[in-house]
Amino acid sequence: MTSSSYSALATAVTNAHKISLEGLFAEDASRPEHFSFEAAGLFFDFSKLHVTRAVLDAGVALASDMDFDAARRALFSGAIVNTTESRPAIHAALRGAGDSLLTDTALAEEVKAAGAALKAFAAAFAAGEIKTPDDEAYTSLIHLGIGGSALGPEMLVEVFGSLGLPKAIDAHVVSNIDASALVPVLDRCDPERTLVVLASKSFSTVETLTNAATVEAWMADAGVEQIRARMVAVTAAPQKARDFGLPDAQILAFPESVGGRYSVWSAVSVPAVLAYGYDAFAAFFDGAAAMDTHFKDTAPSGNIPFMAALMDLAYANALKADSRATFAYDDRLALLPAYLQQLETESNGKHVTASGAPLDLISSPVVWGGVGTDAQHAVFQLLHQGSHLVPTEFIAASKPGHPHGNHHQLLLSNCLAQSAALMRGRSVEQAAELLGTTPSDPVAIAKSFPGNRPSTTILMDRLTPSALGALLAFYEHRVFALGVLLGINPYDQMGVELGKEMAKGLEAYLAPDPPAPSQALDASTRALLKKIQGAA
Ligand code: F6P
Repeated sequence: MTSSSYSALATAVTNAHKISLEGLFAEDASRPEHFSFEAAGLFFDFSKLHVTRAVLDAGVALASDMDFDAARRALFSGAIVNTTESRPAIHAALRGAGDSLLTDTALAEEVKAAGAALKAFAAAFAAGEIKTPDDEAYTSLIHLGIGGSALGPEMLVEVFGSLGLPKAIDAHVVSNIDASALVPVLDRCDPERTLVVLASKSFSTVETLTNAATVEAWMADAGVEQIRARMVAVTAAPQKARDFGLPDAQILAFPESVGGRYSVWSAVSVPAVLAYGYDAFAAFFDGAAAMDTHFKDTAPSGNIPFMAALMDLAYANALKADSRATFAYDDRLALLPAYLQQLETESNGKHVTASGAPLDLISSPVVWGGVGTDAQHAVFQLLHQGSHLVPTEFIAASKPGHPHGNHHQLLLSNCLAQSAALMRGRSVEQAAELLGTTPSDPVAIAKSFPGNRPSTTILMDRLTPSALGALLAFYEHRVFALGVLLGINPYDQMGVELGKEMAKGLEAYLAPDPPAPSQALDASTRALLKKIQGAA
C-alpha cells in the first residue's frame, strides 16, 4: 500500500487482526449495533470482520483521496467511467433509479425504449400473441448465451421458479460450447414448439452462435419450417442480428453502455420474464433501485457496498487474504457464486490502473463459494483449519421458501454456527479438556481451531425478486467502490481476448484431417495437439 491513507488502513486492519475478533467484541460488546447496517430490505452484519473505527476512518480518508464522491456521481450521471472503451456504465439506469440522472438525454431515451420494448414483448407473450409460425403456443424456450448473457437469467429462472408463480413456458439456459450441455436440453424440448433466444451483447460470441447453428440443425432435422421466425435476439448489436436474418420485431436491443456482466437488468433476462411474468422482474428492479439509492446517497462511513469493498481491499492487501468465499444458505441461490465470480473478477481482475500505471495492489479477491450446508461437508475444513485466511460471506433468508418441517431451522442454525465457529475457534487447551488429555497431545492439537476468521452475514426476510435485486445491486456497487479505491476501470474485460484469439488459430489443428502443428506454436501446445490428433 502506497498512500498514507492506504498505510493507515493497513495498520488499522492489521492491529484489529492482532487483537482478534473475540478481543474486539470484548472491547466493545456493541459491535453488532456499530457494524451492522440495513438497506433495501437487506441486513448486513459486518461485526465479525476486522472492522474498527480506525479502519473506517482510514477508509473515509482513502475515499476522499480517490475522489469517491465524484466517481460515484460520474457513474450515476452516465459519464464515461469505462475509459478504455469510452463508455459510461449505465446498468443502474436500467432499473429506474438512475435514468433521471443520465445527463445524455438520447441515452436516457434509449434506456427507456429498451425497457418499454421488453415490457411490451412480455405483455404480448402473456396475451398469447407470440406464437409459432403455425399459430401454436410455444411450450419451451431455449436461451443461448454465455457469461453475462446466461448467468443472470439462469439464476432468475431458478429463483422466480421457486416462488410458486404460474409458469408460462419451460425456460432452459444453455451456455457452454460443449454440446454435452445442449443435447439434454434439446431432448426435453419439442422442436416445433420451441422459442429460441439468442442473447449476445456483441452478437459475435462463438459459443452462442455455434449453439444457435446446432439448434437450427436440430429443428431442420425434425422438419421444422421457418426456423428463424422462431428466434429472438437480445443484443446491443442489432445490425448484426439483422444481418443474421432476424427482423426488428424479433430483436430486443439494449444499450452498448450496459456491460455484459451487468446486463441481468436488460432483455437478457427475457427467459425469466416470459416464464414467470413481468411483475416479478419489476419487483427485482425495485429492490435494486432501493440499493442504488442507498449507495448513491450515503456517505462512505455508512455506505454498505463501500464498506464491503474497503474490507475486500484491506484483507487482500494488508492481511494477504486475497480470496473471498460466499455461501448462500439457500439452494435457490446455487448459481450466485458463479454469478459473483464473473461480476467481480471479470470487473476488477486488473493489473494496471485506469491511467495505465502498474497496479501495486492486489485487485479483485478470488471469488468462490457454494451453498450451505453442502459446502460444510467439503471446503469448510479449509475455512476453519486451513493455513489460508479466507473472509467468508453467509447469505440467508430468515423465512423459508417451503413449508417443510424443521429444515429451515436446521439450515439457519448451521449458518449462524459456522460464522460463530470461524470467529471463536477452539483453543488447544479447550480441545484437550474435552478429550481428557493434555494440550501437547497431537489429537488435541488437530482438534483445535485457530478462530479469528472473518465473516459477513447478509440476511433477508425472504428470498423474493426484490431481495435478489437488492443483493445483486449491492455486489455491483461493491465492485465499483473497490474499483475506485484501486484506481482501476472495472468496466472493460480485455483479459478475455488473448485466449479467444489464440483459440481461432488452433481450430484448424482440431478439424478432421488436420495439418501438423506449426513450429510457431509453443512446444507444450504442439505436444498436446499431437496427442489429441493421435487419439482422433
Ligand atoms: O467472456 C467475455 C464476455 O465478453 C463477457 O463479458 C460476456 O458476458 C460474455 O463474454 C458474452 O458476451 P456476449 O454477450 O457479447 O455474447
